[in-house]
Amino acid sequence: MMKTLSVMAVVLLIAACGEAPDATKAVKDDGAPDGAEIFDMYCTLCHGADGTQGINGAKDLTKSVLSKEEMTAIVTNGRNTMAAYKQVLDAAQIDAVVAHVRSLKKSE
Ligand code: HEC
Repeated sequence: MMKTLSVMAVVLLIAACGEAPDATKAVKDDGAPDGAEIFDMYCTLCHGADGTQGINGAKDLTKSVLSKEEMTAIVTNGRNTMAAYKQVLDAAQIDAVVAHVRSLKKSE
């Protein structure tokens, strides 16, 4: 009996802590990756919700002069202290989040 209870406690604990970001859930109604939501999950930590924050030397994304291709390369492979996201996000998700980054710039 005690054993069953402790197993259940562990299962509940794992369920309660299972809030790790999951990019596969960041999709729009039509199933396409939601760049804004992916940005919220993975990027705001350093770049801020509007991309201007710049923690730990992160660049102000609204002032970035990089092309779409250059941004995609940085998000995919990382650069200096910014991590690579190719293990976390697939190409379509990276595309969507880069498109979101570029929209931050236009809205300025
Ligand atoms: C751990 C902090 C951190 C996180 C999380 C992070 N970045 Fe960065 N980012 C940085 C840093 C630091 C740089 C500057 C890298 C350098 O020195 O070249 C940077 C640079 C960039 C650049 C290049 C800007 C430019 O003009 O040079 C882009 C684009 C970018 N990040 C997008 C993203 C996206 C999209 C995400 C989420 C998928 C993300 N970042 C998550 C820290 C972070």
